[in-house]
Amino acid sequence: MAATEAELLREINARLPDGVDWKEGAVTYLRELVEEGGETQEWFHLVKPFLGGPDYDPFWVDVFQFLDVVHTAKLAPGDLVIDVGCGPGWTIQWLAKLGHEVVGLDISAELLDIAERRMQTDPYPPYIGQPFRYDLRVHDIEAQPLGLGRPARLALFESTLHHFFNPVAALRNTVTDLADDGIVAVIEAAAPPEGSEWDQSNVEIMERYHTIERPYTRTQLLDMLELAGLPFVRFLRPVNGLFAQHVDGVSPLTWELTRADNSNIFVASPTAAGIERLGLEARTVDQLRTGWTPLEGPLFVEHRPDGTRFRWCGPRALLRLDGAGPHEVSLATVGLEPGQVQTVRVVAGGVVGGSVTLTAERPEATVELTGRVGQLVELQSDRVFSPCWDGGGDPRLLSFTLDEPA
Ligand SMILES: C[S@@+](CC[C@H](N)C(=O)[O-])C[C@H]1O[C@@H](n2cnc3c(N)ncnc32)[C@H](O)[C@@H]1O
Repeated sequence: MAATEAELLREINARLPDGVDWKEGAVTYLRELVEEGGETQEWFHLVKPFLGGPDYDPFWVDVFQFLDVVHTAKLAPGDLVIDVGCGPGWTIQWLAKLGHEVVGLDISAELLDIAERRMQTDPYPPYIGQPFRYDLRVHDIEAQPLGLGRPARLALFESTLHHFFNPVAALRNTVTDLADDGIVAVIEAAAPPEGSEWDQSNVEIMERYHTIERPYTRTQLLDMLELAGLPFVRFLRPVNGLFAQHVDGVSPLTWELTRADNSNIFVASPTAAGIERLGLEARTVDQLRTGWTPLEGPLFVEHRPDGTRFRWCGPRALLRLDGAGPHEVSLATVGLEPGQVQTVRVVAGGVVGGSVTLTAERPEATVELTGRVGQLVELQSDRVFSPCWDGGGDPRLLSFTLDEPA
């Protein structure tokens, strides 16, 4: 973990091309695009997120992710929203059309002009006789807070956080104008593997347009949130689409649920209440650094008489490592007869990485999991049984229990 802001900035900015004035780059970005690509570039910003085909994927991704986040934020009519780095303002228009009050800030006056044109040419606010409630401000959020004097319910960073030289300052300055139980919502891509085609293309964009394109790793984001005063967080999975009602097994949906490693979509708050208000269990940055998340197999959380939390699992349990570990995972079993042996194997990346042996005499054991952030790990048992076979009334087919991370 980067212990200080200076260390984190050194880490995330280490590969930025030298000698570039990034703020000037952001201010002149649109002008340079238009000089190079003509009015098509300006048009693109005016009509965003809509686009003509044949590749509609960017449209579906932008719209679904944005709408999912707004839906998750549980806003009431009139709630104040800050749109950080609103650029051409399509998110402002959608939020204002839903009846929210939006303050859009951006360092680029030229992009804000586009946002203003967009709003001025929309004749239909949501309520008859009441104009849209929006305010566009040229503002460098890395330099200082807005100072709105009224707490915002949501601060949205749509494809914006990775553009800041100092994202900690941008987040911290935003928190100043956030309600105690307000949330920051971030939508962006995760860091591609170093040296990959995508990574190379980011470097080329930075050199050519002088705009920062360096998405973050999950670990860097956790450091950032902690340093900015946003210690409560939930990472979210974008799952959209229609799925056939009748399929053999659940694999199409499972694929959707588990494939989302390449996006960083999350809500963060200064307080647990901010996350809980959304109907989500709050996790601290620290829990995410050291914890794991059950994806499939484990049932809901139950409490033992001593108050510790656990989950029953089927014969296999799929977990995701939220931090690299090592994670101590406690496994236990019930229902083994004396002399019977149950083995639970740990499978990561298609390889059996270890196993534990449980017996009636030694029904509990700890297994150590290490891996990369976001890695999926499967625990597989060679035995399946049900508590009702022991005379209880519980008919679930079970295999072992997992202790919940504290
Ligand atoms: C990729 S654009 C995203 C725009 C918009 N959210 C959208 O989805 O269309 C990133 C935006 O961040 C703005 N930006 C970059 N640095 C900034 C800063 N220090 N303060 C405010 N805005 C900044 C840029 O001008 C740009 O409009």
